[in-house]
Amino acid sequence: MSKSKILVTGGLGYIGSQTVLSLLDSGFEVVILDKNQPKEYQNFAYIVDFERVDLLNIGDLERVFKKYKIEVVIHFAAFIEVGESQLKPEKYYKNNVVGTLNLLTIMHRYKVNKIVFSSTAAVYGFSGVELIDENQPRNPISVYGRTKSISEDIINDFCKIHGFSAFSLRYFNACGADPQTRTGEDHNPETHLIPCILNAIANNVTFKIFGNNYNTPDGTCIRDYIHTTDLASAHILATKYLMDLTTSGFYEVVNLGTGQGFSVSQIVQSVEQVTGCKVLVEFVDRRPGDSDRLVASNQKAKKILNWEPQSNLYQIIKTAWEWYQKIKLK
Ligand code: UFG
Repeated sequence: MSKSKILVTGGLGYIGSQTVLSLLDSGFEVVILDKNQPKEYQNFAYIVDFERVDLLNIGDLERVFKKYKIEVVIHFAAFIEVGESQLKPEKYYKNNVVGTLNLLTIMHRYKVNKIVFSSTAAVYGFSGVELIDENQPRNPISVYGRTKSISEDIINDFCKIHGFSAFSLRYFNACGADPQTRTGEDHNPETHLIPCILNAIANNVTFKIFGNNYNTPDGTCIRDYIHTTDLASAHILATKYLMDLTTSGFYEVVNLGTGQGFSVSQIVQSVEQVTGCKVLVEFVDRRPGDSDRLVASNQKAKKILNWEPQSNLYQIIKTAWEWYQKIKLK
């Protein structure tokens, strides 16, 4: 068998694909597992091992672990739409929780016991604190958030009982695109703030801000926007950390954010500055489930992983706009 590899589930998704590119840039050997076909712009999928597998198909999953010598799994594959999760809980529990359990079961069977898990700030729910650290209680308010919280618990149990080693990385608001425009945000439907503002510019329509009466200085919600390239670098640091471990049973939860919050109105202003285009804004009712403020304390990531986010808001919006122009305005 050849050199051991990093298996990336959901490696064609928004954050997964950026992480695959960063892993390749850093010299890792990668196997992408995804239930979708590569999009036409995802050239990298053709130069690495790619396995089109649904985590719910345990036979196909087992075939992948038989075929490759895998050292660490980075597990992104999941449904991510908060709104949809409230309408179709069964779809989310099955894909996100059962899919994770299938993956862990096969990993255990093939003695692959290191995993970096893609979790979310949605596990905190309405936290109410200025900076959220990892000791804040979990209180997810959506089915999506609960699927991630439950998956964290299952992984923690595999660490305690089966000697796995794992990180659960809780992302705040992932945004931006690959600086070389090799991948970026391409959801359907798109609900995230920055691409929605870019859509409004490109289509010359009004951008709707959900609520202007929140308990924040300008009344719009505050979030912690973190570039996907910074998320990718944290995954690489976490992967290396697990590879270097000599003991088993290690489990840590780590927030990934910048520690700085921006309001929706501030993001609109920044998009106007970066693109040079005016955004037509309309204030509409609050969107159910939005909290006033979600900003990370990233001290633990700095301490354990020696991670420092490199991109600022300007770079986030600039890369998102370059990417948007490449794939949507071609
Ligand atoms: N917003 C608008 N108009 C839009 C889209 C968004 O005003 O058209 C506002 C939202 O109300 C919110 C902010 O922009 O206040 C950010 O919204 P996003 O939908 O971009 O992101 P969320 O904060 O709702 O959620 C994201 C991920 C979650 C993750 C969370 C962590 O989608 O999975 O960040 O902070 F849990």
